[in-house]
Amino acid sequence: MRHDTGGRLTRDGIRIHEPSDFDGMHKAGAVAARILDDVAPHVYPGQTTGGLEEIIRGAVEASGAISATIGYKGYQHASCISVNHVVCHGIPGSKIPKWKNDSHGRTDDSLVDGDILNIDVTVIVDGWYGDTSRMYVAGEPKAYAKRLMQVTHDSLMIGIEAVKPGNTFGDIGHAIQSYVESHRMSVVRDFCGHGLGRVFHAPPNVLHYGRAGSGPRLEEGMFFTIEPMVNLGRPETKVLKDEWTAITRDKSLSAQYEHSVGVTADGVEIFTLSPAGRFHPTWEEA
Ligand code: MF3
Ligand code: CO
Ligand code: CO
Repeated sequence: MRHDTGGRLTRDGIRIHEPSDFDGMHKAGAVAARILDDVAPHVYPGQTTGGLEEIIRGAVEASGAISATIGYKGYQHASCISVNHVVCHGIPGSKIPKWKNDSHGRTDDSLVDGDILNIDVTVIVDGWYGDTSRMYVAGEPKAYAKRLMQVTHDSLMIGIEAVKPGNTFGDIGHAIQSYVESHRMSVVRDFCGHGLGRVFHAPPNVLHYGRAGSGPRLEEGMFFTIEPMVNLGRPETKVLKDEWTAITRDKSLSAQYEHSVGVTADGVEIFTLSPAGRFHPTWEEA
């Protein structure tokens, strides 16, 4: 059995992986990213989140990968689909909760023109975890929704730019928070990124806010996700009675982008880059 045996742990419990482990993460990340590329044409008004889940589940099976989320803490789906003011962990196929700007009075899981949604997929390939999410739009996005998605995407990439040996996890959080708040939007505090590798969620908690220079130091061989959730309104969230769906308390719009990354000798490798170059935006023709 090879179970988290390679490498060593830092005193913060963060695993330092071997150079050869990057290859496994790269393969898993590419499979997850490819699935997110391929779902894009299926997002349109009238599509349902349950329908998108079926497409994703089929794509995971066709790729030969294993879904990391089916059976994870009782979760039953191959994707999380978080529409509008759903911050994260939206359950595909469930009724979309009514939000502030909802004029449609929808009663099911079907998308309407202007909905924005995050689709989050995690797969296991040869024991390695690939975890990524990005934003999609049904039809035409409102200008404010587009701005939110752009700032959220850019905050992730600015966080990734802070990933190099010698910097700290606080530098990543600080870079993301400063950028987001300079656009008068807010960073969600209640959910964070995480270490991963041969496990789904491992130390450290990767905060998307914080003080420069705080937190553990980044070392070559660390693997983790960065996955900022950004709200147009206040940062507070609440989890619905289904015990998964997290929404903004003030019912403002929320967006999220997520990459799995590894620290290299002089910087970072992004494991979940889109093979088609469609990480963002996903709703305009290439
Ligand atoms: N993929 C999510 C993350 O970024 C975790 C989803 S867990 C689930 O960490 F059970 F809700 F699927
Ligand atoms: Co994650
Ligand atoms: Co994820």
